[in-house]
Amino acid sequence: MCSCTIFALICAQEVAMSNEKKTFYITTPIYYTSGHLHIGNSYTTVAADTMARYKRMCGYDVMMLTGTDEHGQKVERKAQEAGKTPKEFTDEIVADIKNIWEVLGIRYDKFIRTSDDYHVAAVQKIYQELYDKGEIYKSEYEGLYCSPCEAFWTESQLVDGKCPDCGRPVEKAKEESYFFRLSKYQDKLIELLENNPHLLQPEGRAAEMINNFLKTGLRDLCVSRTTIKWGVPLPFDEKHVAYVWIDALSNYLTALGYKSDDDSLMKKYWPADIHLVGKDIVRFHTVIWFAVLMALGIELPKQVYGHGWLQMNGDKVSKSKASGAACIVDPIFLAEHFGRDAVRYFLLREMPFGSDGEYTYEGLMTRINTDLANDLGNLVSRTVAMAHKYFNGTIPAARVADPIDEELLTLTRTAVECAKPHMDAMAFSSALTEIFKLVSRANKYIDETAPWALAKDPANADRLATVMANLFEAIRVVANLLVPFMPDTCAKILSCIGAEVVDWDKCCSEGMLPAEFTVTACEALFPRIDIKKELAAVGLGEDAVPAPKPAKKEKKKKVEEPAPAAEISFEDFMNVELSVAKILECSPVEKSEKLLKLKVSFGNEERQIVSGIAKAYAPADLIGHNVVVVKNLKPAVIFGLESFGMILASGQGDQIKVMFADDSVPGDRIH
Ligand code: MSP
Repeated sequence: MCSCTIFALICAQEVAMSNEKKTFYITTPIYYTSGHLHIGNSYTTVAADTMARYKRMCGYDVMMLTGTDEHGQKVERKAQEAGKTPKEFTDEIVADIKNIWEVLGIRYDKFIRTSDDYHVAAVQKIYQELYDKGEIYKSEYEGLYCSPCEAFWTESQLVDGKCPDCGRPVEKAKEESYFFRLSKYQDKLIELLENNPHLLQPEGRAAEMINNFLKTGLRDLCVSRTTIKWGVPLPFDEKHVAYVWIDALSNYLTALGYKSDDDSLMKKYWPADIHLVGKDIVRFHTVIWFAVLMALGIELPKQVYGHGWLQMNGDKVSKSKASGAACIVDPIFLAEHFGRDAVRYFLLREMPFGSDGEYTYEGLMTRINTDLANDLGNLVSRTVAMAHKYFNGTIPAARVADPIDEELLTLTRTAVECAKPHMDAMAFSSALTEIFKLVSRANKYIDETAPWALAKDPANADRLATVMANLFEAIRVVANLLVPFMPDTCAKILSCIGAEVVDWDKCCSEGMLPAEFTVTACEALFPRIDIKKELAAVGLGEDAVPAPKPAKKEKKKKVEEPAPAAEISFEDFMNVELSVAKILECSPVEKSEKLLKLKVSFGNEERQIVSGIAKAYAPADLIGHNVVVVKNLKPAVIFGLESFGMILASGQGDQIKVMFADDSVPGDRIH
């Protein structure tokens, strides 16, 4: 081959490589098929779908994986009770789950079932390899087993003698079993989590894993069962089936064709960019899964993200806690009743992604009324109505600028750079806050420019056209940025103003409306909800008898009635210096469940504050936010750390709510 040909080949290869899209592999947990899903379960998948849509809009070749975790005792029992085979039983649940994803607008690239033949075959090969390598050995297991959770626990892990996850009784189980040499990975796992903060997010979860699980001592893990039939038979001993968690976790690899004849997807997408999971299953993903991957000699995923829980009465959402109105936790009911975009928005806006948040039916409706009906919906509907009223829908090209436009134009131009860091950090709620700043600014701009007053004098026609054009440009950017969250609504808005969806990253500078453009009519996006009426309709109105709260939690949630404070003079009040501060850094305080150590900035001064808010917030929820601080509080030493200032918050324990001041400027005094 001559040198020119080689050169041409190399060039062609380089061109091909530079054209190759960056990949992004995101996984949700695979869902149990022993019962129906509720809005809490849907949370992980709505978040994953939003992230996947965002990455696709940023030009990535995305693989989003979801599916079902079907094997195990619980399904076996339930199927038997229903007079069905486990496969018949799970087929029905799988159809239901797929329907929920459809109704919620979840667009996955692959749906895996652990009962799929290719998965079963690959899990068998994984077990065989681990066995051949000596990572799995035969012994006898005697332990405490929680059958609903399919988990073995040690005595010290039990809470009040019951399963620490679900609170149900555990039973002693003894059987001939195969064990995975998990203990040998203990030090490696600690080192890994300590030295790679990105690996487990949000901040704080790694410390939880290290202190609560890894440092308490890892024992070898029992990874086979003889008492269950509905599972993957071990290739080297068919009396045994695989432990459901090893079976389930392997889906992240087998979905890509690992241990099959075609591993091209594996080559393309592994290592996964994010395993998105709820905080309850971080343990399985970082301890067991990481150790299995190391044993197989496979690169670890780039990140496990353990999000918080959607709670009711301070506990994980479940159907039984729905105050008798099961529909209020049913994702299908909610999506059909309020629209799927409203439900998606609520889930990602209501609570910072890493933290727990309280779900109430009333809270959902309030959020829809304020953010979606009043702010976004109103902005679009009144701007479109004015365009039709003043210009018959076609905004002419003539422009007359005014300094009053500057703030809106700047926000419109910088919206991507304000929201992007939050999207990349999966801080969905903060990203939405940023995007909605543009919505609020645009609404304020309407009040400031008063188009109805301009319209009174034909001499103002060019200025009026400018105001309308600025508003539509802001709406276009908002709609483009909100596509991953509310795809249907944004498609409606963009189509109404005749704009195309463009790359998320570039929408401030690309896809702008032409000088002259026409808008069509737009149906009401989010009709206002009559909250009282809706509450009454599901039996949660004022007359409804409140559901009794669980005794265990009641104790935890009891809040001391504060003694009324004595009156103070205005001068006394003025002596308290309340200032806005930005949180720059935040980390848990070692050996304390309650405390966080924060570095805050008042613009021209930085300080360390120790605050008792760890039960309600993970560090990731706080970094970058502005809070209110009592600035002239005497410094104190808390847990051996200097603390100068106090962050204002209400509530107690895991119900604490910090007073955020994201719209204010760090250093400003509050008066
Ligand atoms: N089958 C396992 C996952 C195996 S992954 C290899 C499982 N399934 S699950 O159906 O119980 O949970 C699925 C997801 O829903 C988990 O991420 C779990 O944390 C999440 N949630 C269940 N209830 C939840 C809330 N109330 N709030 C937020 N997420 C919650 O675990």
